[in-house]
Amino acid sequence: MNINNLVRENIKRLNPYSSARGKYTSGILLDANENPFNDKVEIQSLELNRYPDPNQTELRNAIGKYLKLNYENIFVGVGSDEIIDLLIRIFCKPGVDEALIFEPTYGMYKVACEINDIKINSILLNEDFQIDLDAIDKEVLNRSKLIFICSPNNPTGNTLSTQTILTICENSNAIVVLDEAYIDFCENQSLIKKVNDIPNLVVTRTFSKAWGMAGVRCGYCAADKKIIDWLFKIKAPYNINNLTEQTIINSIDNADKKNDYVKLILAEREFLITELKNIKGVQKVYPTDSNFILFKNKEASSIQNKLAEKGIIIRDRSTQPLLENCLRVSVGTRKENKLFINELKRAI
Ligand SMILES: Cc1ncc(COP(=O)(O)O)c(C=O)c1O
Repeated sequence: MNINNLVRENIKRLNPYSSARGKYTSGILLDANENPFNDKVEIQSLELNRYPDPNQTELRNAIGKYLKLNYENIFVGVGSDEIIDLLIRIFCKPGVDEALIFEPTYGMYKVACEINDIKINSILLNEDFQIDLDAIDKEVLNRSKLIFICSPNNPTGNTLSTQTILTICENSNAIVVLDEAYIDFCENQSLIKKVNDIPNLVVTRTFSKAWGMAGVRCGYCAADKKIIDWLFKIKAPYNINNLTEQTIINSIDNADKKNDYVKLILAEREFLITELKNIKGVQKVYPTDSNFILFKNKEASSIQNKLAEKGIIIRDRSTQPLLENCLRVSVGTRKENKLFINELKRAI
C-alpha cells in the first residue's frame, strides 16, 4: 500500500513553514523574535483531572479587562497561528476561495492557506514597505475572502499606514485579519479598539513576543461578537489547557513586567541599530517598530551561515520578494547583542 497515494494533492505540493529552530535549538537564538528576558514561571498547584473550560471564560475576561474590551469580543487560540487557521477554515472554501497577502510578510498566512487549499494572491508592498492601494487589482480584491495585514510587519519591522488599513476594511467585503503580534513595541498604533465599529476586522495578538511566553503557545483575537461565535463553533473543544490559562492569567496580572521587558528591549534595539549602522559592510539598516531589525548586507546567506557556525542564529530573508541580501536579527540581551555584533564584524 502506498500511503502517499492517499495524501491530498495540495499537501503533496505544500512548501511547509520553515523555522531556523528546526535546525538549531541552542546557541544565541536571535531568529524567532522572542523575548530574550526570562523569569522562571511559578504555577500554583492545579487539579488537572478535569478538562479545561471550553468557553475560556476566565482568560477572556482577563484579556478583555486588560484591553478594555468586552470579553465577548475575545477568542483565545493555541498561538495566533491557530486563529489564522481557524479563520481560513470558517471563511474560505477549499479549492474555490482566495485570500490576499502583502509581501514580504509573515510566512504562515501562505502556508495555512495552502494547507486548506486556498489560493493566495500576493501583492508587493512598495519600497517603503507600505501597501500601495493603487496596486490592488479590484477583481482580486473582490474575490478575496480573507485579507491578511501584518503591522508591525514581519520581517520588515515597520508599521503599516493606519489609514490604508481602514480604507481596505471599508472597501472590501472580505474579513481583514490585522496581525498585531509586535504591537507592544509601538502600542499607540493599535487598531484593536476599532473592532467595536468595524464588523469585518479581526485583530490577532500573541503572548509569544513582548510577554515572553512563546513556550506557552497562546494568542488571541478581538473581533465583532459574530466572528467570535463562529470561532467557538469550530474550535477543538478544549483548545486552551489549564496550565496555559493559569500562566497567562498570572502574566496579565503582572502586566508591568511585560512593560518593563518592552523598555529593556527598546533600549537594546537602539544599541543594536547604532552598532549595525557603524559596521562598514552593512549597507542598510531598516527602520523598525518591532523587537527585530532587518538589515542589508552583501552575501547575506554566507554571513548567516558563518554566524551559525559560531552559535549565533539569525534569519536570512533574502529569498523573499524585495528583500535581496536582507538578514533579520531579533533583539537579544546586551551580552547576546554584543556577541552578535562582534561575530558579524568578523563574518563581514
Ligand atoms: C507576525 C506574526 N504573527 C504571528 C506569529 C505567531 O504567533 P504565535 O506564537 O502566537 O503563534 C508570529 C511569530 O513569529 C509572527 O511573526
